[in-house]
Amino acid sequence: MQRYLKTGGEVFGFDISKGMIKKAKIRNNSEVAVGNAEVLPFRDNTFDCISSILAFSYLQYPENMLYEAYRVLKPGGSISICTLGRNVFTAIVPAAYRIGEKLRVNRVGVGSFGEHYYREEEIYTLFSETGFTDLSVERRSFAHVDLKPPLYSLTKKMEPLIEDKLPYLAFNICAAGKKPEK
Ligand SMILES: C[S@@+](CC[C@H](N)C(=O)[O-])C[C@H]1O[C@@H](n2cnc3c(N)ncnc32)[C@H](O)[C@@H]1O
Repeated sequence: MQRYLKTGGEVFGFDISKGMIKKAKIRNNSEVAVGNAEVLPFRDNTFDCISSILAFSYLQYPENMLYEAYRVLKPGGSISICTLGRNVFTAIVPAAYRIGEKLRVNRVGVGSFGEHYYREEEIYTLFSETGFTDLSVERRSFAHVDLKPPLYSLTKKMEPLIEDKLPYLAFNICAAGKKPEK
């Protein structure tokens, strides 16, 4: 939200957790509210852009969120989401949580939130079935937009090579698309 605000645009932020919204209010000078991303309280064709960071994996009905995002985007508007990627390691995380909970191993830290780890093809299908076009679905682990320019382009180039060599590395999936013009 802070990045978008810097461009001079109007921004509206949204999270289902009251605690997260309280924190966001402290950090941002824009509108934020508690709400469910699967039922967006906005009129059709309202936004130029919708963005979601690491929330998609926690949605119970992700197709509803995408349908709602499509509805409230203006024609030609764009969507980008970043979410948890599935590989041989992350595929077993939910089962590890469940075993930890059964054995009451509290030391592993967080419990299961019922999160879903996505394959690239899964995200691609969800986006295209909703009607989004111009799709891109990429792995991103550490090439981070907050990195300064030479470092950012370097990490972006190195990332696919490193992920190829280290298939156990946990990664995020960044997906983007457009609502077609009329
Ligand atoms: C891993 S946190 C990421 C938070 C924040 N976007 C960030 O990048 O720091 C996942 C967030 O998804 C939110 N969330 C889960 N289900 C949601 C839903 N149905 N609608 C809106 N937010 C939801 C949670 O409350 C939580 O704040």
